[in-house]
Amino acid sequence: MRVKLAAGNWKMNGLAADLAEIDALAAAHPAPRSEVLICPPATLISLMAARAAGGPVKVGAQCCHPAESGAHTGDLSAAMLADAGASYVIVGHSERRADHGEGDDDVRAQARAALAAGLRVIVCVGETEAQRDASNTLDIISGQLAGSVPDLVTGDNLVIAYEPVWAIGTGRTPTTDQIGEVHDFIRARLEARFGAGVGRSVRILYGGSVKPGNATEIFAVSNVDGALVGGASLKATDFGAIIAALDEA
Ligand code: 13P
Repeated sequence: MRVKLAAGNWKMNGLAADLAEIDALAAAHPAPRSEVLICPPATLISLMAARAAGGPVKVGAQCCHPAESGAHTGDLSAAMLADAGASYVIVGHSERRADHGEGDDDVRAQARAALAAGLRVIVCVGETEAQRDASNTLDIISGQLAGSVPDLVTGDNLVIAYEPVWAIGTGRTPTTDQIGEVHDFIRARLEARFGAGVGRSVRILYGGSVKPGNATEIFAVSNVDGALVGGASLKATDFGAIIAALDEA
C-alpha cells in the first residue's frame, strides 16, 4: 500500500516567525496516518528541521542545482539541502520551468543529483490551459514524464505531482474525472517504464488550488495519493484540515 503524502510548498513565503505554524500543525496532528511534508524557502530549512525534529512534519526543498558543488553563485546543491535537514526536494515545478527556463533535461539532471544526495524527489508535471484546450494534455504529461524522470528510481524515492498550470493559485481545479484520467495515465506510464513493482509504489500527488473545501473529493479519485499544496499549506488550520481529509480518504 502506498503511504499517502500531504506536501506543502511554501514557495517564496515565510519568515522565521512563521515557523509557529509548524508547532501548531504538529500539535493538532501529532500522529497522522499520512506522511506530512513542508517545503519552505531554503532560508528556513534548517530552522524548520530543528523545530520539527521528533514530530510528524518532514522538511523538504523547492529546487536544487544539478551540480554537486562549484561556481554557481546563489544556487544550492542537493547535498547542501540534505545537510540542512531536507529529506525531499521538489523539481520541475511549473514556476521554475517558467521563471527560470528550466526544461525537462534540467529537471532530470536536478532529480538525478537529488537522488544521489539521498533525497526523495517530487517531479512536477502539468499542462497549460492552452495545451488542455488543444486536447494535448496527455501528450504533454507523457513527454514531461519521459524527459524529467531519471531512470534509476525506486517506488520509495520518486513522487510525481500532477499540477495543471492553469489550476495553480487560481482557485480553479479540473473535474474529478479529468484528475482521474491524468493520474491513471501517469500510473500506466510509470508501470510501463519501471515495471509493476516500482510503477505501483510511486506516489502520485495532485496539486493546484487544493483547499480544505475540495480536498475530500479530490482524494477520493483513483490514483490520487495525496496533494502538493501551495497557498493552503501556509496556515496550520487549512493544511491540517487537508491532512485530516487525506487521513480519512
Ligand atoms: P496552490 O495550492 O496555491 O494553487 O499552489 C499549488 C502549487 O503550485 C503547489 O506546488
